[in-house]
Amino acid sequence: MIGVFDSGHGGLTVLRALVDAAPGRGFAYLGDHAAAPYGRRSDEEIYALTVLGVERLFAQGCGLVVLACNTAAAVALRRLQQTWLKGAYPGRNVLGVLVPVVEAITRVPWMVEAPPADLLPEPRTVGVFATVPTVHSGSFPREIGKRAPDVTVVQQACPDLVPLIEEGAPDEAIRPAVHAYVDALLQQLGGRRLDSVVLGCTHYPLVAHLFAQVLPEGVEVLSQPALTARSLEHYLERHPEYAPPPGPEPAAPVFFTTGDARRVSELAGRFFGHPTPFRTIAD
Ligand code: DGL
Repeated sequence: MIGVFDSGHGGLTVLRALVDAAPGRGFAYLGDHAAAPYGRRSDEEIYALTVLGVERLFAQGCGLVVLACNTAAAVALRRLQQTWLKGAYPGRNVLGVLVPVVEAITRVPWMVEAPPADLLPEPRTVGVFATVPTVHSGSFPREIGKRAPDVTVVQQACPDLVPLIEEGAPDEAIRPAVHAYVDALLQQLGGRRLDSVVLGCTHYPLVAHLFAQVLPEGVEVLSQPALTARSLEHYLERHPEYAPPPGPEPAAPVFFTTGDARRVSELAGRFFGHPTPFRTIAD
């Protein structure tokens, strides 16, 4: 089984893409609803919560965990891979949602062997919309800069979006916030052309249509769920030890939360497109 971890249920947008790419693969999803939103937490808290979440998924029998939360991936992934994982859990691995999108932007493969053909050639200016900790971590500019130093990256934190999306606010209530964040990002460019944007938070694909309405025409919007799914399948082809090949029959994912399972099941269905019978995970 492959584990998928998020601070809440936004990561279901990623899980949905993973299931669509390999319906016969078993997935266990954990949302840390009791501690969400991570966007308002310190780096130390995000690190400790992410390690705990990964351990909980390992305890369910997952050999590989995907951090489907940009905030966890940006703040905690490198540190846990370098300082904790190999000593504590040799033979298991943790991947994040940042790398697939960085590969798509830079066209420099890491886990993906060949850059997706449907992307615009050589984006020179990339905008990243994300939570406050993700922006502060500098992970997107750092990882893009390592592979493609000539790509300009501008970032915009969008602190109001997750709470609005979580509470199920209508488009009319969310559009002004999206407008303000897009304007603020464009201002940073001072009139220079914007080639691509990353919706660098699991919740933002749910309001991708609002970003598309407000962004200048022709700006490419990179979809993290689809890129993550493609990247994971490539990774598993090269590392089959982390998961058996998908079976012929669709396998239903299992859903865990650290929060109120009934409330989460009700809210989360719209992120996934199917019923999501969450169970509360015990310590
Ligand atoms: N899932 C987080 C992310 O992708 C956003 C939600 C939160 O703030 O907890 O950045």
